Amino acid sequence: MLVLGIETSCDETACALVCDAADPAQRIVSHSLFSQLREHAPYGGVVPEIASRAHIAHLDSLIGETVRKAGLPLTAADAIAVTAGPGLIGGVMVGLMTAKALAYALGKPLIAVNHLEGHALSARLAADTPFPYLLLLVSGGHCQFLAVEDVGVYHRLGTTIDDAVGEAFDKTAKLLGLGYPGGPAVERLARQGDATRFALPRPLKGKPGCDFSFSGLKTAVRLALEHLGAGATEADKADLAASFQAAVLDTIMDRARHAIAMFSERFGRQGRHLVIAGGVAANAALRSSLTQLAARNDMQLSAPPPSLCTDNGAMIAWAGLERFKRGSVDSLDAPARARWPLDPQAEAKPFAGAKA
Ligand code: KG4
Ligand code: ZN
Repeated sequence: MLVLGIETSCDETACALVCDAADPAQRIVSHSLFSQLREHAPYGGVVPEIASRAHIAHLDSLIGETVRKAGLPLTAADAIAVTAGPGLIGGVMVGLMTAKALAYALGKPLIAVNHLEGHALSARLAADTPFPYLLLLVSGGHCQFLAVEDVGVYHRLGTTIDDAVGEAFDKTAKLLGLGYPGGPAVERLARQGDATRFALPRPLKGKPGCDFSFSGLKTAVRLALEHLGAGATEADKADLAASFQAAVLDTIMDRARHAIAMFSERFGRQGRHLVIAGGVAANAALRSSLTQLAARNDMQLSAPPPSLCTDNGAMIAWAGLERFKRGSVDSLDAPARARWPLDPQAEAKPFAGAKA
């Protein structure tokens, strides 16, 4: 089975052909990605209108490049999968309309994929991680723990009550003058700094449940920088980056301990995998802290390679493939959605284990 996947929900235009080979290393038949970094860099963040236009300008040739690299005709694809949300609505519409046109012209089924499901299932593309697993989804727009029971069956255990963690990285980078995207730049600078120099807050640490809050931390970074004033040196900035990253990791570890307790209460010894996904999962310090935390809890960390953590076409093709195999296809009037929670019940009904 071969599925074409298209991703245009944020600032990466991406496309991939993925198959269901038994060996995970053989599954990505070909992939292409155009990063709009340079288009958005002057503004210090993603500008939705610029993103939509860049997707229009690059998507067709990217699809052409993907099939050329695979040495296969477009007709070889058994289905067309595409991100239908959540994300910047203009970009989502560009990808979705292109996918609908392809599906119609080729007479192939369309699979409207939730971008978050793409991230959530990427560990299965990379390593066949068995259900159920505990997922920490950390990206520019999302920061949540989910119990992943099966394709399409997600229970949100906790989420951020304000900013996403990737957003905190990006805003800290902007304050430190590191440019966009901030995560990798903050991580690089943090390696040279003293993480104990600034006493930054650990929001919600020790509180019940596994929700997050990052807006106070972001403000604390701004105040520390203001306190340093115009004379802040590169060494000062490295110390601040290191102290920020340490506060983030400390907070995530605390929240993860609670999430593991909540997950274990529900699934017992059935689920022994902790999965991380989303752009921030590319952070090496986070991966290593979570590896240790998982081991201490008799769990195994399953982390896709960094290229599959940040937005990409392969995770969308794979989520489409897993859905298609279960007989799930969409009609050509599938809507583009700016908001599309993986667990729609979460807001109305707290998770049963919420007391952990
Ligand atoms: O999943 P993603 O590519 O796009 C969204 O769906 O949001 O995530 C992008 C986010 C950005 O906030 C970026 O700064 C962050 O992931 N990120 C990182 C690292 N690499 C990317 N954050 C921390 N450390 C990294 N190495
Ligand atoms: Zn994403």
